Parts: sequence; C-alpha cells; structure tokens
Amino acid sequence: MTRIDVAGERPYQVLVGRNLIGELPSLLGGAAQAGVLFAPPLEGLAQRVAAELRAAGVAVLPIEVPDAEAGKTLDVAARCWDALGGANFTRTDAIVGVGGGAVTDLAGFVAACWLRGVRWVPVATSLLGMVDAAVGGKTGVNTAAGKNLVGAFHSPAGVLCDLTTLDTLPPEDLVAGLAEVVKCGFIADPKILPLVEGEPTAATTPSSAVLRELVERAVRVKARVVSADLTESGLREILNYGHTLAHAIEKVEGYRWRHGHAVSVGLVYAAALAARAGRLDKETAARHRSVLELLGLPVSYRAQAWPDLLATMRVDKKSRGSRLRFVVLDSLGRPSILDGPSDDLLADVYREVSS
Ligand SMILES: NC(=O)c1ccc[n+]([C@@H]2O[C@H](COP(=O)([O-])OP(=O)(O)OC[C@H]3O[C@@H](n4cnc5c(N)ncnc54)[C@H](O)[C@@H]3O)[C@@H](O)[C@H]2O)c1
Ligand SMILES: [Zn+2]
Repeated sequence: MTRIDVAGERPYQVLVGRNLIGELPSLLGGAAQAGVLFAPPLEGLAQRVAAELRAAGVAVLPIEVPDAEAGKTLDVAARCWDALGGANFTRTDAIVGVGGGAVTDLAGFVAACWLRGVRWVPVATSLLGMVDAAVGGKTGVNTAAGKNLVGAFHSPAGVLCDLTTLDTLPPEDLVAGLAEVVKCGFIADPKILPLVEGEPTAATTPSSAVLRELVERAVRVKARVVSADLTESGLREILNYGHTLAHAIEKVEGYRWRHGHAVSVGLVYAAALAARAGRLDKETAARHRSVLELLGLPVSYRAQAWPDLLATMRVDKKSRGSRLRFVVLDSLGRPSILDGPSDDLLADVYREVSS
C-alpha cells in the first residue's frame, strides 16, 4: 500500500493499493456509527465495507442512493440527512461514500453540512473518483441551474483507492478516467506519458502494475496542487487543462458523453491552441492526440457544433467576464494561461480538431 499526503488545514492521506477495505475503521477516528452511502451497482462492496466496520465495533447505517448524477441532488441529500437524524447522528459519527465520483461528491456534501461538518471518507471505486473526485475536498450536488453549483470544501479524513474495486468498473469508464491521468502527465508529471505509450493495454488493465503506478502518479499530482491551493484561486486552475472545451462539449451533449471523453477532445484542442499561439512545440502538441488515441479516447468533435461550443464556453463559470481563459502548456509539464485568444484563432484551431 502507498500513502500519499495531502497537506492543508486538515491534512490527510490517500491510500492506494489492493484489498484496502480493512484500513477503513482506522480512518474513522473512533466514530460510534458510520452512515455508508452507496448506489445499487456497488451494493456488494458496500456490504463488505459494512461488515468490516461492524467487526471493528462501529454501528453501520446503510444509505442507498440513486446511481450516478441522479444521486447528486438536494432531494437525495435531504433524504440522507433525514436518515442521519433518525439514527441520532452526532458530531463524532462519520460518513463513508462507496462509489464513483458522483456518490463520493454527494457523501462529502452530506458530511459537510450535517452539524456543519462531520468526518467522512470516500471509498473511490472509479478511476476518475480515485485520481480526481475523491481527492481535494470539493464536494457538492447538481441543481436546476447546473452541475456542481452547490457545494462545500470539506476535506475527507482519508481516501481509499482500492484498485481491486476497479475489476468491476465498465472498461469504458476506466478508459475515460485515463484522460485525467494523461492530463496530469502533460501538466505536471511527464513520466506518466511513456508509461501509457509503452504499455497501453496494461494501462487499461485494473490489476496491472502500470495502472497502479499511473493512479499513484496522478493522485500525487492532484495532491500537490490541492495541498498548495485548497480553494482554487491560483495553482488549482491547472487541473482545468482541457476542461474549457470539455465542459462545453458535455453541455452541448446534454451530459450524455462521459466527462473523460470530453476532456480528451479538450486536451487535444488546448494543445493545438498552444501550438498555434506559438507557446508549445508541435511535437508535444501532436503527442496529446497520439497518446489519447492509443487509449481509444475520442480526439475530435463535430465541426458544425462550433457556434454552440463557443457560446457555451462564454457562459462557463470558469471564464472571467466574456474573455475566455485557457490553460495551455509552454512546454511539457509547464502549464500557463492563455487569456482572451481571438475568436478567429479559436475557430481556426477548432477546425484542426473537428470531424
Ligand atoms: N469533487 C471533485 O473535485 C470532482 C472532480 C472530478 C469529478 N467529480 C464528479 O465526479 C462525478 C463523475 O465520477 P465518475 O466518473 O466516477 O462517475 P459516476 O460516479 O457516475 O460513476 C459512473 C458509473 O460507474 C459505476 N461504478 C463506479 N465504480 C464502479 C465499480 N467499481 N464497479 C462497477 N460500477 C462502478 C457507477 O455506479 C456509475 O454507474 C461527476 O459527478 C463529477 O462532477 C468531482
Ligand atoms: Zn475533469
């Protein structure tokens, strides 16, 4: 097992390895009871988690929630709080979220608000959850106004990335999560890239040593960034590499595309933009497309969608005013900001990545 430190006001560790559920009780700080949130696809794992906790003398309140985004709502959160109220949950009790990023975002939000903040631990079961959602303390739900607009920063007491749980993750979701891993390679840890390029099949095999190293490296990147910047003022923005266009694609697709697929296209776009703006060398830009293609990730999007994408990017919360900001690379591992590129440049570069 590898332990990765996340610094900050309330430091914690991300545990990466196989068969880690036994580590969970030690992260709950002596809680008398734990509310275990899970969605139906992870019911089996949630039962094993519950058994482990009970064996350690922790009373368990299982709380089933709807799967994926359907669970990330205020209604569902309110039902969880009702359940906690019914069980007389106190300040020293704890919440455990077992699932992908949707369930851990919900669980963290439920924990952040109950008694203004109780201890919580995500048991991340998707690759995206492990390398992104469960690390960094951002929690939240979706509302009618949009995704992730309501939430709180609430650091977990620890994070479990048990790689054995990935055995049941649909392969498409595993590959989608790799887009975020590749992103980490380009912005901060270039050693990630030859690992994927050298053994793309191993990179997509849950039990491989390569995937384990990729998870550890990506978690270290996220941990370093959020340790320096919990609340997203400066450095944290680099995690948004590829995400300006990605968020627009997701919206235009009505969120039927996987996030990682949109990020993949967004990375290719950001790289092409940096190359055209004279910031990034052509080889490194081309490497984005080749490594993502090797994994079977999409690297282009519909040509006719450009007007919609541009309009959507303009209203995205991550752009300041009407000027668009893109995270770009000056070179491998050296992210910077491209502020207010012209519409002509943006459209021209889009032509390069459209189909
Ligand atoms: N808090 C953050 O900083 C942060 C960062 C990135 C993403 N997110 C959020 O994470 C969510 C996306 O996470 P996701 O990609 O994990 O999606 P998800 O949680 O919706 O999971 C995708 C699907 O895979 C299933 N699944 C997960 N693990 C499984 C396993 N081991 N075996 C079988 N099925 C499994 C889920 O039940 C679901 O049906 C979004 O809501 C996004 O907003 C949050
Ligand atoms: Zn992302």
